[in-house]
Amino acid sequence: SALRRVYAPKAHGIWNLHMIAVKSGLGACVLFSSIAALLGGGGQANYAAANCCLDAVSASRRQHALPGTSVQWGPWADVGMAAGGDVNARLQAGGFSLITLVEGMSALEVAMTHLAHPSFAVAKVQWSRFSTNSSETPAFFQELDLRPRESKSAAATSTPARAVATSALTTDRVVEIAQHLIGNSVDADVPLLEAGLDSLGAVELKNSLQSYSGTGVLPSSLVYDHPTPRLLTDFISLSVVVDKVDPMTQPSEIIGLDHVTGVARSLLGSTVDPDVPLADAGLDSLGAVEFRNQLQGLLRGYGLSLPNTLVLEMPTLRQLGQHLAHTTAAFATDVVEPDVQATSAKDLYTDVSVRDWSDAKHGCLSCQRRGKPGLPVIVAVSSIEGTVVLTVPSEFQGDVYRLEHEHISTGSKAALSETSLQMLAAKYARIIVEELQGRSDSDISFYLLGASFGSFLAHLIAAEAEKLGRAPAGIVLIEPLPVLPLSQHPNFVSPRPVTGGLACASIESARRTSLDPRYDDTMETSIGDLEQLYNSQPDDYLPFLLTQRLSDLGMKQFNLEAIMENGRRIAVCEHHTTLWREPLEHHMPALADVTRVLVVFASPSAREAFFSFSFGVTGDANLPSAVSRFYGTAMAAEVHVDGSHSDVAYRCLTNRVLEFAESLLKFVAEQEVRHADTLQLQIHQWSSSKAWSANAQRC
Ligand SMILES: NC(=O)c1ccc[n+]([C@@H]2O[C@H](COP(=O)([O-])OP(=O)(O)OC[C@H]3O[C@@H](n4cnc5c(N)ncnc54)[C@H](OP(=O)(O)O)[C@@H]3O)[C@@H](O)[C@H]2O)c1
Repeated sequence: SALRRVYAPKAHGIWNLHMIAVKSGLGACVLFSSIAALLGGGGQANYAAANCCLDAVSASRRQHALPGTSVQWGPWADVGMAAGGDVNARLQAGGFSLITLVEGMSALEVAMTHLAHPSFAVAKVQWSRFSTNSSETPAFFQELDLRPRESKSAAATSTPARAVATSALTTDRVVEIAQHLIGNSVDADVPLLEAGLDSLGAVELKNSLQSYSGTGVLPSSLVYDHPTPRLLTDFISLSVVVDKVDPMTQPSEIIGLDHVTGVARSLLGSTVDPDVPLADAGLDSLGAVEFRNQLQGLLRGYGLSLPNTLVLEMPTLRQLGQHLAHTTAAFATDVVEPDVQATSAKDLYTDVSVRDWSDAKHGCLSCQRRGKPGLPVIVAVSSIEGTVVLTVPSEFQGDVYRLEHEHISTGSKAALSETSLQMLAAKYARIIVEELQGRSDSDISFYLLGASFGSFLAHLIAAEAEKLGRAPAGIVLIEPLPVLPLSQHPNFVSPRPVTGGLACASIESARRTSLDPRYDDTMETSIGDLEQLYNSQPDDYLPFLLTQRLSDLGMKQFNLEAIMENGRRIAVCEHHTTLWREPLEHHMPALADVTRVLVVFASPSAREAFFSFSFGVTGDANLPSAVSRFYGTAMAAEVHVDGSHSDVAYRCLTNRVLEFAESLLKFVAEQEVRHADTLQLQIHQWSSSKAWSANAQRC
């Protein structure tokens, strides 16, 4: 009866459901099996057998071309039969960590795709603690050679073995592994990226070194932080030194955002927004030194030294937290979280995280940073992916708004209905003007700022805002991408169709460039490969795949929110790219007299001919650039910054280019002074006119 009670509901239940569903048909069929089906478990023969039935039914359905996936779940944390109490404690003691809701839902998302294996296990295992309570090693582990029975004490005594394994990792061995990946000879002191290692190879090398050296989790940006075989060997050997040096203070956790937030709170006496620069939150230079020292104290035992300029280099708590999490993950010995939690050392370029949209107007305009009332505001215009990344210099003291695509916040398909860039611009102009007019300081001036695709959108929004009687005081175009009547251009080549795969390739390649300027060449040559990779996958699978790849690059956490957000970005990118390729009815519209322009170009820019076409100005090598010719006297400055298109865009947007930051501040200041002068002039003329006495009271 013990067998029947547990076995029957699942085994017979699934068979009955299967027989009914064969007739009616199912779009998806995901069965909740258990890790017990894979690993067994003391006293769980009935349960393991029942779940094996689910796995078998799933396999059989797939053989008959019917949908079916059986997920062998490990224990869940928050809900269900394992949540809370003794079971939970026993499982954790045996080496199982608990699956969170977000992780479980991410896995479920995978299971729903028809690419998923007919049955697969989802479990979080701390292998150093894992024990099956059995004298025999389960067949599964014998085959995989995972040495699962290493208990905590065994792990401690095995440290020398691990040290031997790691120290056996010589520079020659790293060279050998790299040569195998690149297919060419490699010098121990030449950066591997220069020697031909591409970005995917970098991930493979990291994985090979990780399993070869047995150091545990290595950072995703390993090859970028330690570019040559010799530097790589030194870095990996360091983790052994740390183990040996100070076993008493052996680090056991990842230091991350929570820790840095705690230290900041204790110093400043209040909670600090993780995305606000600490200097803006009131941390002065002495405080910055103290802050750095306290964080250094937390890192005792990790063998890491923080620079004195820490807060200057990483101004926000989020950037700091991500950097430390990434660095300490490589050292922590008891890291529970798998690779997917890795965060980027190149935190300056890390994606915006999923955020609270509750205060966003029309689902697309939100205030990123509150400044002082009465001062001019900046509105950052969305990129081709529909999102915005912007860190303005702290000297800019007005509000900063983000204008992002509504589909990102709502996921509504209706939000993707615009059929031209002008329609989109008109909608955004309406929303911005409405917001400004609703403010108590409704007469303030505003500036539109965009990069790449977003910069020409900013131009179009400025033209639409003027129609509504509210032209911006300035627009800032960072690495503008011409919007073209493409079909009329002499070099016009019929573009590839816009697909989700193309959108993914463009998102990933932009991220790769932003990760490190050294990616440039690889990115340019591999975008076709990326597109091929993504285009060969079904559309439903793309958000998952993109998130996984960004996570491998250390740029994004792998969780359900990230998968969903990427799905929306892909849709917006597809939509925007289509609009961008639509020939404009006319050339770019002229702007109002009051609107001045600041342009930043990656130098050298090879797009002169396209700009001439886009603006309808004739080309002449002896004249200033097409952009300057078009904007004429409205052009305040044309700044040139070295780097590729994406690199310059990202560095300017994240406030890493001093020249741009200075130009931006000067640009705004000049317009404000100009504006004030105009007012004074009007008052002066007015006061000397005959109307003066009549209007004196009002004046
Ligand atoms: N939660 C986990 O950690 C975990 C791990 C591995 C696998 N799983 C699998 O995931 C599934 C859901 O687990 P859970 O944690 O959500 O379980 P749960 O909270 O215990 O819920 C079990 C559900 O099954 C129903 N049920 C129990 N006995 C039944 C029977 N003889 N006939 C029909 N229905 C019956 C219960 O109905 P009543 O509410 O009416 O009692 C309840 O709705 C299970 O198949 C489990 O084996 C869960």
